[in-house]
Amino acid sequence: MAVYLSDWIRRYLSVRSQVRGLPTISSLFEFFESSYRQKLPHISFIVPVRDYTIDTPWDKYAKFRSDLFACPQLSTPSYAVYVTSNSNAAVLISNKSGLFGKPIDMFRYVAINIFGKQITSTQSGDEHYRHKKIVKPCFKENIMQTGWSKMVEAFQTMKFEETIEGGGTIEDVKDCMIKLTLYVFGRSGFNMDFPWNIPQSKAEESMPFAEALHAVESSITVQVLVPFWTLVYFPLKLVRRLGQAQKSFVSHLKAMYHSKRLELKSSSGYDQDRNISPPPKDILGALVASQMSAESEERLKAGKTREKVLGLMESEVIGNICEAGHETTGHTLTFLQAYLCVYPEWQDKLYEEIISVCGDEPPSYRHVSQLNICLAACYETIRLKDIVMTLPKIAMKDTTLPYTTWGDEGHISHKVHCIKKGSHIIIDSPALSLNPFVWTDPGRFDPTRFLDANGRVSSSINSFAGFSLGQRQCIGKRFAEVEMVAYISH
Ligand code: HEM
Repeated sequence: MAVYLSDWIRRYLSVRSQVRGLPTISSLFEFFESSYRQKLPHISFIVPVRDYTIDTPWDKYAKFRSDLFACPQLSTPSYAVYVTSNSNAAVLISNKSGLFGKPIDMFRYVAINIFGKQITSTQSGDEHYRHKKIVKPCFKENIMQTGWSKMVEAFQTMKFEETIEGGGTIEDVKDCMIKLTLYVFGRSGFNMDFPWNIPQSKAEESMPFAEALHAVESSITVQVLVPFWTLVYFPLKLVRRLGQAQKSFVSHLKAMYHSKRLELKSSSGYDQDRNISPPPKDILGALVASQMSAESEERLKAGKTREKVLGLMESEVIGNICEAGHETTGHTLTFLQAYLCVYPEWQDKLYEEIISVCGDEPPSYRHVSQLNICLAACYETIRLKDIVMTLPKIAMKDTTLPYTTWGDEGHISHKVHCIKKGSHIIIDSPALSLNPFVWTDPGRFDPTRFLDANGRVSSSINSFAGFSLGQRQCIGKRFAEVEMVAYISH
């Protein structure tokens, strides 16, 4: 025990020496996961959550006068943790995938693998490439069109179900936006009738898909932390329901996966030699079609006799179906509407753009690329209210990180800090989006930041990291943009 403890302390002291020269926030426990950090009480040096100033992300950097600081944690003595809001560092870390990977053992990445390994939680390099090869081709034009049409359908349903067709009030906008994007996910993801209000079945037997998906999603932390059989046999009915939800969800996904394969193979345009079907209009279909085409590509390369087929395993295809991104879209729409209330002049500008682009017609998918201000308002919302909060990375080799410090007199110094292989680096995207060295008057809601001189919208401005950057940036970005513009233009 004494040897174990002294080794622990030795490693912790080594971490402290690695971060020497940088401002630090020391703690007993690791507490980076934004999802649970907000729920913890502030206890100095044990879990100093307030020092992270979630509501005003730039404040800690202003206090330190540095856009890089370190977090030595007694509970994780094997690696140093660095937090950066430096835009050069963010670009470097995101673009050098041989030098910086993903810390895939972190809770958030382990958690999303619950139903099968999925792209977000793969290590950068070969494993990520294998997933991306299947997932990326799903987001083609036909899926974007589906995203638009299902969002318009969801919007009409929302007005009807929430009885606001002739005007009225929605009490809980966030709740409503999450329902809205879940509805779009259900319909565009699986091409199935997804109800607005999900009924709760009484029996403890198999649940319908929509109910199982909803129950699993809203209890994901419990689903990850508590073993499946404990949930299923727990004395409380409420907890047993969560086990039932997981069981039903997985069995629905497997059944849908297999029936989708059969459906694609029996569809009229199916090319038997190349194992290719006409482009499906739902994400599940697109994923299965992409997998089938990768399988036949590999078969052709390896010869027809080869047993092992590459592409993704069944559990991985199922895992990737679960990568929905609907909550991020739902939260962004919530904040966007709040900003449009607080800044009515922007509500007017969006309205003028919609009228000038669409005229008397209702907005449609063919207008999407012209609704620049609408999309710029979405980016500006993500800049000010970053939902993903942190982008964790890991150093695969010893390397350096650029950072900036400044003094009272306005003197600025650009520096580098040496970091060891295995160190964690958190790109603090909410603070990066408010870094006054990068953004002018960063607290102001101003969508024109994302418009060029010709009024064209672009997110590639000032290393904007709301959808992450480089190889690991959001694969569903365009889908999310289409959904958000469809909603806000209506
Ligand atoms: C406003 C909405 C959205 C925002 C702000 C957003 C943001 C992000 C961010 C920051 C990442 C990087 C996460 C990390 O490195 O841990 C990411 C990755 C990802 N997102 Fe999104 N996302 C949104 C919507 C969506 C949608 C609608 C989908 C799917 C339909 C989606 C699918 C993905 C996938 C698959 C990845 C992993 C990419 C990879 O590792 O190669 N996202 N997203």
